[in-house]
Amino acid sequence: MSISLERGAFPNTRMRRLRARDFSRRLVREQHLIPDDLILPLFVIEGRDEVQQVASMPGVERLSVDLLADKARTLTSLGIPAVALFPVVDPSAKSEDARAAFDSDGLAQRAVRELKDAAPELGVITDVALDPFTSHGQDGLMDDSGYITNDDTVEVLVKQALSHAAAGADVVAPSDMMDGRIGAIRSALEREGHVNTLIMSYAAKYASAYYGPFRDAVGSAGNLKGGSKASYQMDPANGDEALHECALDIREGADMIMVKPGMPYLDVVRRVKDELRVPTFAYQVSGEYAMHCAAFDNGWLSREAVILESLLAFKRAGADGILTYFAEEAARLLNG
Ligand code: PBG
Repeated sequence: MSISLERGAFPNTRMRRLRARDFSRRLVREQHLIPDDLILPLFVIEGRDEVQQVASMPGVERLSVDLLADKARTLTSLGIPAVALFPVVDPSAKSEDARAAFDSDGLAQRAVRELKDAAPELGVITDVALDPFTSHGQDGLMDDSGYITNDDTVEVLVKQALSHAAAGADVVAPSDMMDGRIGAIRSALEREGHVNTLIMSYAAKYASAYYGPFRDAVGSAGNLKGGSKASYQMDPANGDEALHECALDIREGADMIMVKPGMPYLDVVRRVKDELRVPTFAYQVSGEYAMHCAAFDNGWLSREAVILESLLAFKRAGADGILTYFAEEAARLLNG
């Protein structure tokens, strides 16, 4: 029997005693949200002094590379430890073989260099996946039947990850869900001397309908051939499979793992954290951001309180950190 039940029932135990005053609520609070928990996803575009709004994500902007330095300094001053970069490439740079993905002078690679020059202490996480670069918008290479091939794709992902590490990325984050890519990327990084490049694996990434606004933001929605990513992303019905995926990726050399989407999958975050005891992150994805904003803009939910509550819930579920489009705003709120 647990101690609290041994203490006996009402009125020996009045759960409301500790809730009655602010000081005691603070003393027994189990979780705290701090700026250290937050990672801001950043969309980057070509051009100079160019800011584009993302229609389906109110308040989220795509920034040209030259604007990243200022952004990096702001985020650092707010205490945010890292950003996750997502390049939005011109349709003319997209191809069947996604060769722009590993161009040493590509958009992502230049963005990494700009960020590391401006704010060396800000961690830079890059997305390893081919969807911004393929003409069909899928995360890997497509064969004649429309299937996304695994092993050929992994070869390209390895080149992409190496080009990010060479540009100075601190963390490479494969979000493609191909089998074996973590092991292949880890051995290539070792071989090339990038022994301290971290891998944050999107290990439990679901074939979710919550990614819609992101696909608008990176311009891969309109051209997504086949429509679904279900042949590589996980079935939302499955929980055990997430543990299997995460365990494999840790064995292959991932330093951190991620569960994605976030709020509808907090049970998965908890299970992964309890069973594997490794650094575990969760992504409050674009659709979660968009639906919150819709409710805020209609006056149906109170913006500041709900942002902080939604993020605290990730901590309670066991997440070590949260990728969220609210990161900058939340850090401002937390810093008071
Ligand atoms: C694709 C990728 C996606 C997201 C991050 N990387 C979408 C997808 O799988 O189509 C989604 C992020 C979000 O919705 O905020 N490599």
